[in-house]
Amino acid sequence: MATPPDRVNVLLIGSGGREHAIAWRLTQSPRLGTLWVQKGANAGLVALGRECPEELTPGKAFFLTRWCDREEIGLVVIGPEGPLAEGMADVLSAPGRLVFGPRRDLALIESDKAWAKSLMREALVPTAEGRVFTSAAAALRYVNDRDEPCVVKMAGLCAGKGVTVCSTTEEARVAIRACFAGVREGDHAAKVVIEERLDGQELSVLALVDGKTITILDPCQDHKQVGEGDTGPNTGGMGAYCPTPLAPDALLDTVSRQILVPTVDALRRRVEDESAAVPFRGVLFAGLMLTPGGPKVLEYNARFGDPETQALMMRFQGDLLGLLWHTANGSLDEASFSMDSRTACCVVVCAQGYPGAPRTGDRIEGIADAEAEAGTGEVVKVFHASTKPLGPGSAGAVSAGGRVVGVTALAQSLTEAAALATRAAARIHFPGAFFRKDIGHRVLAGSAPVSS
Ligand code: AMP
Ligand code: GLY
Repeated sequence: MATPPDRVNVLLIGSGGREHAIAWRLTQSPRLGTLWVQKGANAGLVALGRECPEELTPGKAFFLTRWCDREEIGLVVIGPEGPLAEGMADVLSAPGRLVFGPRRDLALIESDKAWAKSLMREALVPTAEGRVFTSAAAALRYVNDRDEPCVVKMAGLCAGKGVTVCSTTEEARVAIRACFAGVREGDHAAKVVIEERLDGQELSVLALVDGKTITILDPCQDHKQVGEGDTGPNTGGMGAYCPTPLAPDALLDTVSRQILVPTVDALRRRVEDESAAVPFRGVLFAGLMLTPGGPKVLEYNARFGDPETQALMMRFQGDLLGLLWHTANGSLDEASFSMDSRTACCVVVCAQGYPGAPRTGDRIEGIADAEAEAGTGEVVKVFHASTKPLGPGSAGAVSAGGRVVGVTALAQSLTEAAALATRAAARIHFPGAFFRKDIGHRVLAGSAPVSS
C-alpha cells in the first residue's frame, strides 16, 4: 500500500480557470501543507496560495530544483500544455518529489499532432484519416486532388486556435497558405496535418493514467467556437458541462477498449527500453467525435481540459491531493473518489476581441452577485482565468486576457445548471464582456445521436 504523507507542499504550475478549479479542491485536502502558485498567477489563485518568488521556466532548472528542495515540495501539478512540452516534468521530478504531468517525450501526444497521429496509427486507434506535410506545395497538391471537406491543423501547440475546419478546397488552400506563411500567431509553420472532416457530436473524455491504471472521469462536452450555435472561429473553450448524456456506459466502454487502452499501451512501449523511466503519469484527454461509425479521436491532450476541469472539479468529491499524488506515484489503483450526482455547467465570460487580441485591464464587477444566484440545492462558483489582482491586499480583480472568468453552476439537471450558469454569468460586468448563452444546446435541443 502506498500512502501520501500527512502533509504535502504542492507547487501548482499554470494560471488559468483550470488551475483555479484545481487549487480550490486542493485547498480542501486535509493533507495540504503550503500551496505554491506561479508568480503573477490569476487573482483567484493568488487568493488561495503563495506566489513563487521567480518565474517558472525550464531555463531556470537549477534555481527551480533548489527552490523546490528548500520548500520541500512533495508534489508538482502541471496544468497547461506549454510547461509539459518544455519538459518541466523532466526538470522537476526528483527523489521525494512527484510530478503530476507527463515528461516531454510523452507530452508529444499533444504538442506534436504528427507524432500523435503516428502513435494512433501504430495502436490502431480510430481517428480521422490524416497526412502530414512539411511543404506548402505538397499540401496544396493534396487538397487540390481531393474533393472532400478537410481540416487543416498546425502540428504544434496553438491554444486551440491552429485548426481550420474547411468546407471547400479554397478554404483549405487559404488555411495552408496561412500556416506556411507564418501568418498566424506562433511559430508552428513547419508541419501541417490535413485530415478528413468528421461530423457528429464532440465529447471530451479525460482519464487519469499512471502508466498502468486508467481511471476514466465522467465525460464532458466543450464548446470550442466563439459564437452561439457553434459559429465563428475556434477558441480555447467557451463553456463545458459534465456529465453528458452523449456518453452512456456502453460508449465509454468502447472508448476505453478501442482508444484509451491501446494508446496507453503504445505510450508504454515508447518507454519500455529505458530502464527506470517514468511512464505517462497525468491526464490523457481524448477529444472525440462521435461519428456514425463510432467514436474517433480528433486530438489528444496531455493535461486537464479547460473549461472541462471547472465542471469536473465542481462535482469532485474526495481528496484531490491524494488522487493526484497516487497518479504521480504510480499507485492510482489505490486512490478513491466520487462525483456529485448533479450536473455542472461552466460558462466562460470573455473579453472583447477574443479569440483575437482581447481588451484587458478592466475591473471585474459582480463576482459575489454571480455566486449568490444559486438557489437551494445549487452552487455557483466563479473561477478566475485571465485576471490579475486589483492591487496588493485587494480582493478585486481586473481582466488580463481573453477568457476572463468561468462561471460554474451545479444543479440537478443540465437544463437547470446551464440556465443557472447563464443567469449568473450575466451578473459579471466589465466593458465588452461577452459569453455564450447556449452552453449545452446540442443536447438540450434533443438532437443528440448516441453511438457506441
Ligand atoms: P483540435 O485542436 O485538433 O481538437 O481541433 C479543434 C477543434 O476543431 C475540434 O474540437 C473540432 O471542433 C474541430 N476539428 C478538429 N479536427 C476535426 C476533424 N477531423 N473533423 C471535424 N472537426 C474537427
Ligand atoms: N477544452 C479543450 C482543451 O482544453 O483543449
